[in-house]
Amino acid sequence: MNHYAHITGWGMSVPEKILTNDDLAKIVDTNDGWIRSRTGIYERRIAGPDQTTASLAIEASLRALSVANLRSDELDLIIVATSSPEYLFPATACLVQDQIGATKAGAFDLSAACTGFIYALNIATQSIRSGTLENVLVIGSETLSRLVNWKDRGTCILFGDGAGAFVLQPGEEPGGLLSAVMRSDGSGGDLLCIPAGGSRFPTSATTVQDGLHFIQMNGSEVFRFASRVMVQATQEVVEAAHLDLDDVNLLIPHQANQRIIESAARGLDISMDRVMVNLDRYGNTSTASIPIATCEAIEQGRLKPGDHVAFVGFGAGLTWGAAVVKWSGPFPSPRKVQPQRYRRLVRLRSIFLRLIRQIEGLIWGRGK
Ligand code: UT7
Repeated sequence: MNHYAHITGWGMSVPEKILTNDDLAKIVDTNDGWIRSRTGIYERRIAGPDQTTASLAIEASLRALSVANLRSDELDLIIVATSSPEYLFPATACLVQDQIGATKAGAFDLSAACTGFIYALNIATQSIRSGTLENVLVIGSETLSRLVNWKDRGTCILFGDGAGAFVLQPGEEPGGLLSAVMRSDGSGGDLLCIPAGGSRFPTSATTVQDGLHFIQMNGSEVFRFASRVMVQATQEVVEAAHLDLDDVNLLIPHQANQRIIESAARGLDISMDRVMVNLDRYGNTSTASIPIATCEAIEQGRLKPGDHVAFVGFGAGLTWGAAVVKWSGPFPSPRKVQPQRYRRLVRLRSIFLRLIRQIEGLIWGRGK
């Protein structure tokens, strides 16, 4: 039994391509002023043709492993929280496992929409604390630009692409995730969904024609729900960690809408200088928004070892959740691991495994 699960590595990856509000105004009936004042978003990143949910996740993961100074073959589990997986199956986490060379890791995707990263963080922590696993990689990664209807001004202005990853490791020193809240209310499932493409409404000419493969959202209902649950979940999780809100150095909320974040800060009676906001530059990157905001908070010196940080999120499902973390930082170690350097070797390994499978198929009578 391990006592604590520390966050010892972090990394992010966003596409280079920027789509500004003015760019959007050229494709839908909107304008920069409306988007800024109603959402706080100025621009978002859009994946290029060669970038996918897995490729962004891989970049973020290699950076997180490098910070943690951990080799990918030391990982026990990879969880990818995503709302835009590469396929229904196999899991995007398995693509990441293969491409980072995590030879001993289990891998699965977690579907809890924008709350997914908090759910994944909690599952990873509990697996480590139970003593079942040691090193876990938790990723939030999205290419939502591939799932939005670029003719729907109510949704296409909101979302962006990107990925963020944390490495979690066991330790005896108090720290890491101290408490978590995971909640859901499926009665609101229709408020934010992609109706078709699953087993309920399989893909057909009609589903494509009716635009049922795009994100559909009742924005004002989601807004009301979010403003309510962000406050409740944060209060609950801070209390569960036996802390006061005053003990929380930084609140990192899901980056969906500046007005939702400000309303949560007002409800919690904390000033905005204790709240991390970067949605102006990335929009809503769903599961990736909290880890990306965390990476930037660290970079800006707003989150330091020993600080208490509260994460809070909400999303489709409906789901919502929160977590309180005592921030750790990497474990001191004399070795220097550079996972990026082995990328070529890892790719070769993957090609080799495919080749062996083909040869085995020939020998043992493939397609019999
Ligand atoms: O991760 C969870 C993801 N979802 C969310 O976080 C969504 C939460 N909801 C929101 O962020 C907001 O509801 C929106 C930003 C989506 C919409 O803001 P709103 O203040 O709730 O606007 P609204 O939907 O009530 O629309 C107000 C007006 C309408 O016009 P009328 O009927 O008053 O004439 C809309 O047609 O604004 C119009 N409108 C726009 N105008 C310019 C809606 N979208 C746009 C737009 N540009 N992009």
